[in-house]
Amino acid sequence: MCGIVGYVGPRPAADILLDGLRRLEYRGYDSAGLAIINGTGVQVQKAAGKLSVLTELIGNRKPKGTTGIGHTRWATHGAPNTSNAHPHTDGSGRIALIHNGIIENAGALKTVLLKRGHEFTSETDTEVLAHLVGEYYSGSLEQAVASALHDVDGAYGIAVVSADEPDVVVAARKGSPLLVGVGEGEWFVASDAAAILEHTRSVVYLDDGEMAVLSRDGYRIRNLAEDEVDKPVNQIDWDLATIERDGYEHFMLKEIFEQPESIADTMRGHLLDDEGSSRLHGLNLSDEELCQFERIVITACGTSWHAALIGEYLLEDLARMPTEVEYASEFRYRNPVIDDRTLVIAISQSGETADTLAAIKEAKSRGARTIGLVNVVGSTIAREVDGGLYLRAGPEIGVASTKAFTSQVTALALVALRLARLRGMSLEAGQAFIADLRALPRLVRVVLDRAEELEALADFFTGSTNALYLGRGVNFPVALEGALKMKEISYIHAEGYPAAEMKHGPIALIDENMPVVFIAPRDAVHSKIVSNIEEVKARGGRVIALISDGDDEIAKLADASFTIPMTNSALTPILTSVPLQLFAYYVAVRRECNVDQPRNLAKSVTVE
Ligand code: M6R
Repeated sequence: MCGIVGYVGPRPAADILLDGLRRLEYRGYDSAGLAIINGTGVQVQKAAGKLSVLTELIGNRKPKGTTGIGHTRWATHGAPNTSNAHPHTDGSGRIALIHNGIIENAGALKTVLLKRGHEFTSETDTEVLAHLVGEYYSGSLEQAVASALHDVDGAYGIAVVSADEPDVVVAARKGSPLLVGVGEGEWFVASDAAAILEHTRSVVYLDDGEMAVLSRDGYRIRNLAEDEVDKPVNQIDWDLATIERDGYEHFMLKEIFEQPESIADTMRGHLLDDEGSSRLHGLNLSDEELCQFERIVITACGTSWHAALIGEYLLEDLARMPTEVEYASEFRYRNPVIDDRTLVIAISQSGETADTLAAIKEAKSRGARTIGLVNVVGSTIAREVDGGLYLRAGPEIGVASTKAFTSQVTALALVALRLARLRGMSLEAGQAFIADLRALPRLVRVVLDRAEELEALADFFTGSTNALYLGRGVNFPVALEGALKMKEISYIHAEGYPAAEMKHGPIALIDENMPVVFIAPRDAVHSKIVSNIEEVKARGGRVIALISDGDDEIAKLADASFTIPMTNSALTPILTSVPLQLFAYYVAVRRECNVDQPRNLAKSVTVE
């Protein structure tokens, strides 16, 4: 979603801000802008569209100052046009502000400001906040921002500059991520470490209710009540190379191909071969405490929700643990039955998804113990939960989640294994499961080595505008995920269904123009899914099937097929999801879609 970057130091700010915004492009945005203190005032330049439009507009008229703020906006209040783009200035034009989040009482604040003679040029809540800061300004930007924030309801990550304090950037957060980058004689503020990684790997994560005041002499963190806050400086453990494309045409392709390593990294250090179990110190739960839970609720959104559905299967099948999966956005609004015997697991790549964060807060308020399976270190959800497991998949830049998904499934398998061993799984079965887990990176590599076959299969979707994805058991969520990948990046309408549900409605859609993708590895429901394929073929449908090595029966029935290596059937989702990621990728490339930044999508959804 929106991106923030700010700079105070000795170097020209414009280049640093533009580079930072470029690193944030992957998050999704529809306009961009800069505000630089240029010696006489605040120079604001902004434009609708991609960053290239802004850089073209700036041309060789780059502002000269060394203090500034930059923003990429993903529209919430008002159309994605230039006047709604950030930064916004106050009435005097001497204060500029950028904002991620939503000011919920912007309408009421605007009414008051209008009465006081303020005039607005945009439809945004952000401009209201800029004017409010201006209204409070009487010589201290820090004080003006603090006073304005006392009046505000809603979520914000903001950065503000004033022409009257040319060496100061004030930043604040409530419900929208923000960090301070600590350089050598220079300081940064950013909504995502990727924006400043080129300059420093030392960061201070702000918590809700905190403000940072950056000046040429250093930085201070305080809260809205004016108490100074002492915060640790954290070291980011990945570098710039990790967020480069490394010769791949798209980040998504690079991330798909990284999965043998990312899955191995998720497991690293967690497998206890002798005990046939997993070591999960990060959960902060003893074996005794784990045994006391009566049920698990997993909450997440999007792709992470699909991983959760696979987790439900693993936890029930392996650990015999009653498990439910909830859309985070629904969970918080429907009076869920949760108490201290419920373990709530939140799954999130970004660790910033507003709905998932709110669900965790709701669960905690009802007495549940919460754990997070999160990729981004130091993210809000990772810090909100009582314990958890970092996925260690590395930065995921492509908007369509790929390697985070397989790491989420792997992490869920680790949790399921530990619980299973505590709830009756034998040592031998635990050790066999570990052997299957350890084999996964190699088997994923086997699938990736045959990417060309999937590229050729992309022809199958030529001319199609709709598709069905069908699977059963643990591969039903893979059908959902395969369909989501296809629609997100290729804009082909695709739906996932449990294969047996087809005859209850979707079968009406089957004809020669509707490709049907079956996820049909050899498992307990294999014969059932063969019947489902027959039903599609009998109606003239065209079938692509993902099948296990050596499955001649389905290979003969289907119009096209792709084989995956044999593995423990509970772990097949990792092997079946990878070809579907590649398949969606190749179809999208053929349709000349913007694979890494699909229209309207944001990498991290920080609004409800
Ligand atoms: O960062 P999260 O895992 O919490 O994000 C959840 C969804 O927004 C995310 O998975 C989304 O569905 C992706 N675009 C999927 O590719």
